[in-house]
Amino acid sequence: MVNETVKAKMVIDKEFQISEIDPRVYGSFIEHLGRAVYGGIYEPEHPTADENGFRQDVMDLVKELQVPIVRYPGGNMVSAYNWEDGVGPKEDRPKRLELAWRVTETNQVGTNEFVDWAKAANTDVMMAINLGTRGIDAARNLLEYCNHPGGTYWSDLRKSHGYENPHNIKTWCLGNEMDGPWQVGQKTAYEYGRLASETAKAMRLVDPEIELVSCGSSNSNMPTFPNWEAETLEHTYEVADYISLHQYYGNRSGDTANYLAKSMDMEDFIQTVIATCDYIKAKKRSKKKMYLSFDEWNVWFHSNEQDKEIEPWTVAPPQLEDVYTFEDALLVGSMLNTMLRHSDRVKIACMAQLVNVIAPIMTENGGAAWKQTIFYPYYYTSVYGRGVALNPVVSSPKYDSKDFTDVPYLDSSVVYNEEKEELVVFATNRHLEKPLEVDIDVRSFEGFDVVEHVVLENEDAKAVNLAGQENVKPHANGESYVDDGKLTSVFPKFSWNMIRLQKKA
Ligand code: AHR
Repeated sequence: MVNETVKAKMVIDKEFQISEIDPRVYGSFIEHLGRAVYGGIYEPEHPTADENGFRQDVMDLVKELQVPIVRYPGGNMVSAYNWEDGVGPKEDRPKRLELAWRVTETNQVGTNEFVDWAKAANTDVMMAINLGTRGIDAARNLLEYCNHPGGTYWSDLRKSHGYENPHNIKTWCLGNEMDGPWQVGQKTAYEYGRLASETAKAMRLVDPEIELVSCGSSNSNMPTFPNWEAETLEHTYEVADYISLHQYYGNRSGDTANYLAKSMDMEDFIQTVIATCDYIKAKKRSKKKMYLSFDEWNVWFHSNEQDKEIEPWTVAPPQLEDVYTFEDALLVGSMLNTMLRHSDRVKIACMAQLVNVIAPIMTENGGAAWKQTIFYPYYYTSVYGRGVALNPVVSSPKYDSKDFTDVPYLDSSVVYNEEKEELVVFATNRHLEKPLEVDIDVRSFEGFDVVEHVVLENEDAKAVNLAGQENVKPHANGESYVDDGKLTSVFPKFSWNMIRLQKKA
């Protein structure tokens, strides 16, 4: 019977703590790519633009997401980027061939403008340096320009550009995807490890307060994964604070059950990187723990074909403009769950990207800004997923798909916010036909009751949102109630859910 309910169980206990969640796990990414910057966050001619040219309609949506950190300026683009092109009087800035995406970069936005934008958006900057075509010198100069108070060549140059106070950017990426053959200045693991560790040394001499991210593999399918991690960490383990992970998924074969299980691949990826870090820790007899920065993650495949048609060397063409479906939003929800279940090691994560380019926020040049389907799980998890991640003990029926076995229909994460006396359950029901009725033991949360049960559901897996047409949006009519220490919830077939409980006054 199609509507018959499938049953699952969870035990949630205050004491089953994984870790305090680092809010930066809800970070994002803006690259000089396509219309992310030009026509995305920056469009001086737009009716909502402020005096700096920043679109306020986009700014409002970014603020709604409460994004704590944004990686910048790339991405592949950073590997051939001269940061000096993007500072100083705008009229003097050179137009350059941008090699990664084969477009023309006007440099009308650069480091200082992005810092201004980030400040206005209540977010921090995570700055990437060019270790493709450049190296130690450009990195230390940029850091001096950004973070040194004054009295030196580069810091005084910043002041002369109108920025009296240092930007104090704390988190820096030592290059981007340096294992990738597509990367300008690709390196072997040895070459990268040596360059990254010497660059880190110089950067720490300029500013000992910074945090550094060493480049991991471009994704878990790279032929050199996880040897790249092991070999590069031999050099960078003691100088870096994080190692990066990047991963994008797609449903190219149209197999939804298999697609929804892809967060299990992310789970394996995280586990392997942790194991590799800990192996190097043991080998080095180190006291230090390496943390993970999952600084590019999302769904990316819809726009692959149309991108092949883009005329090279144009300015801000519509590249990587994936229009996300309802099923994409469910996988995004599960990817967030996966990272929260690893919040003891995953301290930074960046949904790639933020505006127009594989993004939760889309814009029309000169027109509207709107929310893609994936906006919603990102929004709810970012806004309500603050506190301590709890380890839910889940017992769920499972299925097998093309690439995965024992896929639990119920995928979840749980967050307890002690200060707000709030317990939040995020859950995906991967069952395409049947609702999941879940008995959740919440006896350790005495006096807590349901405040809301938000559901993202849709009959059409391929439903999308377009400008002025929001076909996929959540409702708050989910079925959940607490009785005698037991939360009973029904997660509709093929849905993403958030249940929020609070202690009754
Ligand atoms: O986010 C799009 C691209 O994906 C980034 O530039 C690169 O780092 C990754 O391959």
